[in-house]
Amino acid sequence: MESVGVSSRLCFILCVFFSAYFFAGVRSSSAELQILNAERRVDLSSHIIRVSLTLKVENIGTTPASELLLAFPPKQVDHLAWIQAAAVTGKRKKKTFLPLDVKPSTGPDGPNGTKHYSVTLVNKLGSGESVTLEVLYVLTHSLEPFPVEISQAESQLVYYHDSALVLSPYPIKSQETSFRTPTSRVESFTRLEPTDRSGTELKYGPYEDRPSYSFNPILLHFENNNPFAVVEELVREIEISHWGNLQVTEHYKLAHAGARQKGGFSRVDYQSRQHFGSSASFKHLLAELPLRVHSVYYRDDIGNISSSRLLIGSKKSELLIEPRYPLFGGWKATFVIGYGVPIQDFLFESADGARYLNYSFGCPFAETVVDKLTIKVVLPEGSEDPSVVVPFDVQQSLEKKHSYLDVVGRTVVVLEKRNVVPDHNTPFQVHYKFNPIFMLAEPLMLVSAFFFVFLATTVYLHMDLAIRKS
Ligand SMILES: *[C@@H]1O[C@H](CO)[C@@H](O)[C@H](O)[C@H]1NC(C)=O
Ligand SMILES: *[C@@H]1O[C@H](CO)[C@@H](O)[C@H](O)[C@H]1NC(C)=O
Ligand SMILES: *[C@@H]1O[C@H](CO)[C@@H](O)[C@H](O)[C@H]1NC(C)=O
Repeated sequence: MESVGVSSRLCFILCVFFSAYFFAGVRSSSAELQILNAERRVDLSSHIIRVSLTLKVENIGTTPASELLLAFPPKQVDHLAWIQAAAVTGKRKKKTFLPLDVKPSTGPDGPNGTKHYSVTLVNKLGSGESVTLEVLYVLTHSLEPFPVEISQAESQLVYYHDSALVLSPYPIKSQETSFRTPTSRVESFTRLEPTDRSGTELKYGPYEDRPSYSFNPILLHFENNNPFAVVEELVREIEISHWGNLQVTEHYKLAHAGARQKGGFSRVDYQSRQHFGSSASFKHLLAELPLRVHSVYYRDDIGNISSSRLLIGSKKSELLIEPRYPLFGGWKATFVIGYGVPIQDFLFESADGARYLNYSFGCPFAETVVDKLTIKVVLPEGSEDPSVVVPFDVQQSLEKKHSYLDVVGRTVVVLEKRNVVPDHNTPFQVHYKFNPIFMLAEPLMLVSAFFFVFLATTVYLHMDLAIRKS
């Protein structure tokens, strides 16, 4: 009794001691880094904003660092759809990239609600050493149309808020930020010394010796007539049939998320403007489909839409769809696309004899944001133990689906993700076990259905005869 008490007390003291040591260590290691050089390039040419950040980080402390923090203002972090980081070695053409793990930091927020993402360094950064990191992140819904309403003939102008200084928990010795706009029409921008503008590029900096968490708000107002194609909701159903086909059905709720259309729509005016490319509306959408796609259809609530073109190349297939009317700001279109692909291109057997589907996540349409994506993988009847491998966080659940030839129903793996961008179009896998006896379920159901019909007919004929006799 006595010894247990003593050892648990000792354990408690040790725990307190070690955790204090650990936290002090984390804090000091994050405070002991500095950024020698930061270069940020913000691409505003689409409605999906891509930011690449090159950081040269030095460890000026005495303990090796295994983690580095990236900082985001709270508003920006809500629109962050994608983030990746890599350590760069070598120069110019001989550069090699070592991908690094990035995830939301579990530590405390910075001043003014600044959120942190933590990059895990594969090779610890020793005292006095430096490393170059390439960070890429993608922001959605970050361009604010102003004016909020435009007529069909007007160009679309948007606001973009950011900071002229790179937000960082570390001091930055030297930095520069450049913004690329879609056209050279820039209505206004915040002027700071030094600012340099030429054509479609706007440059802030270089700035020297800025302390940690420096922030300098800026506002850009510029023309952006690119299609603001947002799929508010997309449900993709991928049905596996061991009889040779993979059937994909995609339900879209598409919206134009740009400045709202003011006044009526004139087709004549619309067609004459199309030539000048000065309209923010869009007429077509281009989807990249699997190579050996077949039986493609495209329909909406009214019926089939014939104005779509399937371009099958040697490396990829593309589907060009044209909704019934061009889409203006605030307008929506609901439609369904369906197609089949040969199963052997996407279904494989793993080493342990189990099967797995390897298919592309995300939305096949170019430069499109999906606010809410649901992927439903319908497994063949009799499948067991499904498990999913996706390279990012998704919500997972299971459902049952019954169709007319099913005996026990099919397991459906449901994956849900919000704020999806083209970077998410990477392969994911669904593994499952399958009992081949179920291959016989469908034919057996068919045979028994025929047999039942046969039996019923016979009985009916006999009854018929019996009636005629009497
Ligand atoms: C926090 O916000 C206030 C008000 O906007 C600003 O004056 C201050 O400089 C900010 N502090 C930091 C560390 O960003
Ligand atoms: C729509 O197109 C599909 C595939 O081409 C076809 O099978 C179907 O019969 C068509 N439906 C109508 C109503 O035209
Ligand atoms: C999945 O398919 C992609 C090509 O589409 C391929 O690069 C990748 O290696 C495949 N993954 C697995 C686990 O089979």
